[in-house]
Amino acid sequence: MRRSLLQHILRLFPAETSHRIRLAMLKFVGILPLGNIILRRALSPRKIDLQREVMGIHFSNPIGVAAGYDPNGDYLDELAACGFGFVEIGSLTPRPQPGTPRPRIKRLRKLNSLVNNSGAPNRGLEYVMHNIRRRTKYNHSLVIGCNIGKLTTTHPKNIVKEYLRVFRNTYQYVDFFVINIACNTAAKRYEPRTREEILELIEPMFEFRRGQLDYRPILLKISPDISREQLDTIINILIETPLDGIEAVSGSTEMYKDGKGAMCGAQLTEKSIEMVRYIAQRSEHNYPIIGSGGMMTPNDIERMLEAGASLVALNSGLRENGLKLLKKSAKKIATNQQ
Ligand SMILES: Cc1cc2nc3c(=O)[nH]c(=O)nc-3n(C[C@H](O)[C@H](O)[C@H](O)COP(=O)(O)O)c2cc1C
Repeated sequence: MRRSLLQHILRLFPAETSHRIRLAMLKFVGILPLGNIILRRALSPRKIDLQREVMGIHFSNPIGVAAGYDPNGDYLDELAACGFGFVEIGSLTPRPQPGTPRPRIKRLRKLNSLVNNSGAPNRGLEYVMHNIRRRTKYNHSLVIGCNIGKLTTTHPKNIVKEYLRVFRNTYQYVDFFVINIACNTAAKRYEPRTREEILELIEPMFEFRRGQLDYRPILLKISPDISREQLDTIINILIETPLDGIEAVSGSTEMYKDGKGAMCGAQLTEKSIEMVRYIAQRSEHNYPIIGSGGMMTPNDIERMLEAGASLVALNSGLRENGLKLLKKSAKKIATNQQ
């Protein structure tokens, strides 16, 4: 995808700084008197009809923002104005987590990829609740997913309790949940892979949901580094339990051998598409899948949807190629659907 001049300038800065500058610009435009209208006109695919129902939720289009882009929900109004079909906040943890010291995101220019070693920094449940509890007139129709992750400092015996705490507290304020079982960038990794480990984590959530009036879909976010056997275990859980869907994939630690961190961006494209295709085929296209990983161009996003994803979540693509990726992708999908 051809980059704009702004994008070329932003890429002169270190990866995390360029992301922060873009978000600051977005906020600045957003607070101008006609800011949200300007953002909608410039960036949103507002005239393109790609609406769909997934998991019983109405999405204005299938392209959204993946976890780690706006972890605290500080930019929901602006991202809604940009026209994203959904925003996944998080990974959210019960208490604030500063993450790994900087620099913690590395740009691999030649590979068109990023190495994420941020350790899921977020401002914790209390702060994020403040952002999501009261919907504004700008983001009231934005679909919000909450990605729940593990605090680096959590003792293994408290992990289930802490995930459940975030789940229960945010239940009535978000539309769906993504349970991150690929927390691989923190100092203490957490990647449950057996059926028992995974069920121990999600069954208390099913139990809590049974007592609620409103239904919130629960998805598992998986690592690209799991074996075929482990993937089959997760697909069986999807078919046999009240789990609603899978998000594939997070960053890959196996693909990055030169230090700590998870490979994200173009290096992941083929792997994520292949995994989504496999999950869709094995589950007979009966369950929602969020495709994530290496969605850098409109072509990648179109291929991911063709492989069986119901929704696509972007992170490195937005950081490296800019927010116009959404509009360009929507145009391409709509043209090819005709
Ligand atoms: C800087 C950065 C921070 C991320 N933080 C999180 C996170 O907190 N939780 C999570 O589940 N995924 C996180 N991710 C992973 C992304 O959500 C996504 O699954 C992954 O990067 C693959 O998509 P991409 O190739 O489009 O970046 C992060 C990725 C990056 C690059």
